[in-house]
Amino acid sequence: MVQRQLPNPVELLELMKFKKPELNGKKRRLDAALTIYDLRAIAKRRTPKAAFDYTDGAAEGELSLSRARQAFEDIEFHPGVLRPAPEVDMSVEILGGPSALPFGIAPTGFTRLMQTEGEVAGASAAGAAGIPFTLSTLGTTSIEGVKAANPSGRNWFQLYVMRDREISYALARRAAEAGFDTLQFTVDTPVAGARLRDKRNGFSIPPQLTVGTIVNAIPRPWWWYDFLTTPKLEFASLSATGGTVGELLNSAMDPTISYDDLAVIRDIWPGKIVVKGVQNVEDSVRLVDAGVDGIILSNHGGRQLDRAPIPFHLLPNVVREVGKDATVMIDTGIMNGADIVASIALGAKFTLIGRAYLYGLMAGGRAGVDRTIEILRTEIERTMKLLGVSTLAELEPKHVTQLTRLVPLAAARAEAGGSRVSAARRADTTDASGPAPAKATATRAKSPKPAAAKAAGANPAASEATTAKSAASTAATAKPAGSSRGAGTKA
Ligand SMILES: Cc1cc2nc3c(=O)[nH]c(=O)nc-3n(C[C@H](O)[C@H](O)[C@H](O)COP(=O)(O)O)c2cc1C
Repeated sequence: MVQRQLPNPVELLELMKFKKPELNGKKRRLDAALTIYDLRAIAKRRTPKAAFDYTDGAAEGELSLSRARQAFEDIEFHPGVLRPAPEVDMSVEILGGPSALPFGIAPTGFTRLMQTEGEVAGASAAGAAGIPFTLSTLGTTSIEGVKAANPSGRNWFQLYVMRDREISYALARRAAEAGFDTLQFTVDTPVAGARLRDKRNGFSIPPQLTVGTIVNAIPRPWWWYDFLTTPKLEFASLSATGGTVGELLNSAMDPTISYDDLAVIRDIWPGKIVVKGVQNVEDSVRLVDAGVDGIILSNHGGRQLDRAPIPFHLLPNVVREVGKDATVMIDTGIMNGADIVASIALGAKFTLIGRAYLYGLMAGGRAGVDRTIEILRTEIERTMKLLGVSTLAELEPKHVTQLTRLVPLAAARAEAGGSRVSAARRADTTDASGPAPAKATATRAKSPKPAAAKAAGANPAASEATTAKSAASTAATAKPAGSSRGAGTKA
C-alpha cells in the first residue's frame, strides 16, 4: 500500500528550478545544436537553397560522400576498461607546429556565399581554438584578410595550379610572405566534378536574382540583408567570370598539372608542402619519394569523381606504406569527433573538416564555427575517455574495426571460396579479430617502389583490394550499423 501525504511546498520549490530564458536568439539556436547534423539542419533553414546546396551537395549521385560518411558510421570501437583517463590531451604536433585538437579547417571556395563572415569567421575561430585554418585559392577573403583575422594562429594556404601558372605562383609567394606555414597543393581537380544540384538550381557566380531566388529569399531575409549590405561577394584572388562554379573551375584548372609543377612549387614555397586529394597507395609512395612533407587522403568531399575510393578505407594501407616518412592526413565525411578519433587510431596524424565547419558558419557565423569546434572537441574527448586513452598517441588500430558493406566482387568471391586470402591477409589488417598492426609499422623502404610494383604486375588498386578482402571477412561476421544517415545529403 502506497503511503500518501500532502504535497510539501518546499520539496516542490526545489524541483522548480526554471532556467533563465536565453534572450539571445543566435546563442539559443546554437546551444540547442548537439551534433554537426543539428547544425546542418539549422544551416538548411537559414540559407537560400542554392547556397546551401552548393555546400551540402557533391558530384553526380553523391555516392562518394554518402559512402565516406557511412564508412565512419560503420566502425566498431574496442574500449579498454579500468584504465583511468580523467584528463585527455587532444593536442598534436603537426607539420612543424602545434594544434590544440587533431583537426583543422579544410579549404573551401566561395565561403562568404554561405554566410557573409566567411573565412574571417573560420580563421578567427580556428585561431581562438588553437587549430590551423586553410584558405582556398578560390576564397572570398584575401590572404592578408585571413592573416588579420588569425594573426597569431596557424594559417595554411591551398593552391590550385591554374592554366596561367604565374597567377598561382604569385598567390603562393604572397601567402608565404604573409606567414602562412603550410601549402596544400590540391590535385584532384583536373576538371570540375558534375555538381548536379548547382546545375538544377541554376547556381552561378555571382549569384543571379531570378524569380526563384527571390521567392526562396522571402523566409531568409537576414541572408539577403547580409549579402546586399556587405562588400561584394567575389573570389578575393580571382575575378569572377560568370557561369556556374563548375564552369569557372574548368576555366581556372588545368588538366595538365604534373610532378613538374610540384617541383616548381617546392622551389617557391619555403614551408611545408602537402598534396591534397591523394587516393591510392601507389601515388602516396611516389609523392613521398618526390619529397612532399605530407599527403591528404581525400576525394574532395565527394565533389569531384563520384564513386571515388573512401579515404578512410585507404588509410591503413597508406599509413603502412608511407606513415613513417610523411604526415598522413585525411578528410571527407567527418561529421563527428568519433570519426576523427577512429582516423587517428588507424594512423592518420591529422584530419580536416569541410562541411562540418560550413554548417556551423551558415548556422551562426563566427559563433556557429565556434560551436562546430566545441561539438567536435566534446565528442573527441568523450570518445577518448570511453576508450580508456588519455593521449592521441595511445590510440591504436586495435581500438577500431572497420566494417564495410562494399567489397570488390572479386575479393568477396575469393573470400567465399575460402581461397588463400584468409589467414595471412587477415593478420595484415585492422580487423580486431587478428593481430593489429602498429601505426606505420614498416618503413617505406620495405615497400615496392612504383616502378617495381608495376613490373611485378601490381595495380594501384591492389592494396585497397587487400583491405577490402579482409574487411569482407569482418563484414561477414559483423552486424552493419542500421543508420542510413549517410544519405542525409539528399534530404
Ligand atoms: C563548399 C566546398 C568548397 C570547397 N572548396 C575547395 C577548394 O576551394 N579547394 C580544395 O582543395 N578543396 C575544396 N573543398 C574540399 C574540402 O577542402 C574538403 O576536402 C572536403 O570538404 C572534405 O569533406 P567534408 O566536407 O565531408 O568534410 C570544398 C568543399 C566544400 C564543401
